[in-house]
Parts: sequence; C-alpha cells; structure tokens
Amino acid sequence: MSDLLARHRAVMPNWLSLYYNEPIEIVGGKGNRVVDASGKSYLDFFAGILTNMIGYDVAEVREAVERQLATGVVHTSTVYLLRGQVELAEKIARLSGIEDAKVFFTNSGTEANETALLLATYARKSDQVLAMRQSYHGRSFGAVSVTSNRSWKNNSLSPLNVHFLHGADRHLAQFRGMSDADYIAACVEDLRHVLATSVGGDVAALIAEPIQGVGGFTMAPDGLFAAYKEVLDAEGILFISDEVQTGWGRTGSAFFGIANHGVTPDMMTFAKGLGNGFAVGGVVARGDLMDGLHAVGLATFGGNPISMAAANATLDYVLDHDLQANAARTGALIIDGLREAAPRLPVVGDVRGKGLMFAVELVDPATGAPSPALAARFMEETKKAGLLAGKGGLHGNVLRMAPPLTLTLDEAAEGLGIIVNALEVVNAEVVSS
Ligand SMILES: Cc1ncc(COP(=O)(O)O)c(C=O)c1O
Repeated sequence: MSDLLARHRAVMPNWLSLYYNEPIEIVGGKGNRVVDASGKSYLDFFAGILTNMIGYDVAEVREAVERQLATGVVHTSTVYLLRGQVELAEKIARLSGIEDAKVFFTNSGTEANETALLLATYARKSDQVLAMRQSYHGRSFGAVSVTSNRSWKNNSLSPLNVHFLHGADRHLAQFRGMSDADYIAACVEDLRHVLATSVGGDVAALIAEPIQGVGGFTMAPDGLFAAYKEVLDAEGILFISDEVQTGWGRTGSAFFGIANHGVTPDMMTFAKGLGNGFAVGGVVARGDLMDGLHAVGLATFGGNPISMAAANATLDYVLDHDLQANAARTGALIIDGLREAAPRLPVVGDVRGKGLMFAVELVDPATGAPSPALAARFMEETKKAGLLAGKGGLHGNVLRMAPPLTLTLDEAAEGLGIIVNALEVVNAEVVSS
C-alpha cells in the first residue's frame, strides 16, 4: 500500500470510496489528459465526475482567476455588489428559457437542490415532493430524501414527504420490451396513481435529473417529462430539473438536458462543470418563485469572486467554441462505436448515452445479471491502458463516462479504441472461464 493510501485510510472516512485496486493521485493536467504521481498519463473520460468540463489548464479560466486574485479580493460578501455574480446570472437567466428568471449561487449541487426544494415547498405551502426512482440529488437531509438509491442513504430521516415515480427504470421486468410511447403512457399512469393514492393535499414539486448521473446514466425516453408536465400543470405542481450533470450542452442535443423533452421547467439546479473545477452551484428559477421567500438569506461563499471569475470564463468558453455541437459530434462517434461493438460482446448488457454522457452496462453473460465484478475488471483494464472512466448504477455495474466537452475527434477515437479493447479483454476472460 502506498504511504498516501495508508494515511488516507487512517484519517479519512471509510465511506469515501476510492477507485482502483491501487488508487491513483492526480498531480497534473493539460487539455483532456491528466498525469498521476508515477508519471503515467491518462485520457480523462470522467473529468473529476463531470466537473472539469472544458479540460485542464485552460488559459482563459486561469487568467480570469489570476486577474481576480490580482485585485487582492478573494471574498467580499453578498451584502456588497458583486459584478461577477450579476454578469453570470444574466447569462444563465437568458440561457435558461425560464420566464423572468432569477439566479441564486451556492457552493454545490446539494445546496442548489436544497434551495430549489425550499422555493417549491414555500411557494406551494406543502412538504410533499415527487422524485424519480434511482435518483441522486446530494448528501444533505433534503437532498438525500429525494435520492432513491439505497447505497447512498444511511437512514430515512427527512424534512420532506417524498413519493417516487417510475420513468427511468424501463429495464424492470414489468416494462421490458415496451415501446417508448407505451412506457411513457405507463409512467404517466403511475404518476396519476401516486397522486390519487399516496399524497394528501397539494404537492410542491417534482424534482428529476433528465439523465440520472449516479443512477448510471439511466434516462427516460424523450417526451416523458413533457407528458408528466401536463399532469403536474393541471395541479399546479412545480417542476425542478436537476441539471448538475446534464447542463451546459453536455447532451449534445440541448443546452440543458430537460430541453431534450421539450420542457421548460420552473427551476433548474446546476453545479459541477460550471466552474471547471472551482466550487460553484446555483438555482435558476421563475422570478416570482425566487422572490417569494419572506426571510432574508445568503450563502457566505456562494458565488464568491473567484468562483464567479472561473464560471464566467468557463461558460463564455463553452458558448464561444460551441462545445454543445462538439459534444454531439464526438459523443456520436463514441456511442455509435460502442453500439457497433456490443453485439459481439455478451458481457455488454446495454449501451446508452447522449452527447458526451455515455454508459456501458456489464452483465454476467450466463444469467444477464448485473456484474459489478466485471465493471471493476474493466476499470483496471482501462486504467492500465491510460483512460479514466467512472462507475455507477444501482448495482455498481455501469461504466459511465463523460469526457470534457473539449474532446477532439482524435481523442474520441482513441478513447473508443481503449474502451472497446478493455471490453474485449473482460469478455474473453469470461468466455474462457
Ligand atoms: C445530479 C446531481 N445532483 C446533485 C449532486 C450533488 O452535488 P454536490 O456533490 O456538488 O453537492 C450531484 C453530485 O454528484 C449530482 O450528480
């Protein structure tokens, strides 16, 4: 065991799990590649869990942060005017498509979701919330209560009364083989049934990830949330889209993931990629909802001058370089390549994705059961070959990958080659055993 790993084990929580049999320390990065402490280089297909959105050592972001540092001001407070916040809020409000949108900045996705849930429960005078099965929304009591993955829940303590919906779980036996239209109809029926049977009085909101991150990039067929929204609108139930993983063009086909469903939500939450590694989160909401709270509030570090400098530079970079189009182009190359390889690899149970957010599900070919062990083997193989991937899903058998939006076509082809090769190695081991 390395010295650093031993020290980590001694003082860090044991539930802070590390990837790989021999965990790595990343000590350098440039473009879409990182280097570990041994000097080994990796093409980064996980990007700090979708957070290094435009890669490493980006001059525009570095210089924006350095300019702010040079003013001598790292923090002022929200009791003073913050130019960076106003500028970024203007951009996000415009991009959101939400009417009269206003923005509140936080430090994380968890805090962003707490804020959105506060706005919704306050506006609707209700503690009842709908969420999706297999979701992940963060680690505070409120965010965990709308999370639907037992591996991420320590207990059932909750400030909210939550009911969970189908919609991202068409692999379940009762939905298998259904067309998109039939599955959407079944899920809308489920929503109506929950509203008829499980709630009392008004419901505040539905919170949903357009593509579930921790859930293993599971996703509802396009159009499900539009169908849900008709039912929600009839009862005045608000809709919160958690865009922490799906925002800023990552899905290639839309700037925010929910737009793939043709829906403009009442609020969106964001974090991760916006600061390209600097801590920033927030919620963009209809102005009446945002202004509706009667108490004052602030987040001390939320939207601080450094994170705003980084976030403004990152968002400008995404827009100036049309990285959404790049995500569509490079993502299609990889997803098409994976789909082409899948039929000859019985360990591959499913390939899914949109833009630069794609996943491969590994199963035991004999039984079709989810195989976290094979996913772990894949992780070791790709590490050896110089590619960082992620793991997730309810059963820990989903390989999820989301490279920086700056990925080049050459890097996409290189990464695809490494992934397919690793799948072939894992597949051959199973077949020969
Ligand atoms: C969809 C989604 N929402 C919320 C969160 C929580 O964000 P944070 O870890 O910044 O609190 C995450 C984190 O993985 C996420 O994936």
